[in-house]
Amino acid sequence: MTPDALAALHARCFRLPPPWSAEAFAGMLELPGCVLLTDDTGAAFLLGRALAGEAEVLTLAVAPEARRRGIARTLLARFEAAVRAAGADSAFLEVAADNLAARALYAAQGYAEAGRRKGYYSAPGQAAVDALVLSKTLTTN
Ligand SMILES: CC(C)(COP(=O)(O)OP(=O)(O)OC[C@H]1O[C@@H](n2cnc3c(N)ncnc32)[C@H](O)[C@@H]1OP(=O)(O)O)[C@@H](O)C(=O)NCCC(=O)NCCS
Repeated sequence: MTPDALAALHARCFRLPPPWSAEAFAGMLELPGCVLLTDDTGAAFLLGRALAGEAEVLTLAVAPEARRRGIARTLLARFEAAVRAAGADSAFLEVAADNLAARALYAAQGYAEAGRRKGYYSAPGQAAVDALVLSKTLTTN
């Protein structure tokens, strides 16, 4: 997927954080340890990073019409396998406290709450929302 396509799908999936621009995606794709995984249809992607033994899910988006088919679960499993192969032994991410779908996904995949950032997500005209920091130890089995 191109930075334009990533930005377009991100904008369809997020209210908070505010949508990321194509330029922002292009910059992130240049980061050391960046991992971009997409599904076959272009309806979903996961952007993450692995650095110094630790991996981070930067964002994960599945188009509304493609949800509840296991696509996010599969992308997350592929991400964990890829970063483990790159030497990461743990993964973390931030999720909005009011994002119950994502929280259910991550809980089902073994991510546990490791912290909370008060009012982390904010945008003009919208109430700020806390971020939960979730983490998972990556094992080889
Ligand atoms: C969160 C999101 C990525 C889930 O994608 P998805 O492909 O629909 O998720 P999956 O089909 O792989 O779901 C796997 C499991 O997660 C949980 N889950 C996913 N969506 C859920 C929902 N709306 N309500 C409750 N549980 C949910 C369930 O346990 C589900 O398993 P099940 O379908 O067998 O019950 C998708 O809803 C999305 O893109 N949302 C907007 C962007 C976003 O919030 N991204 C994550 C930010 S950190």
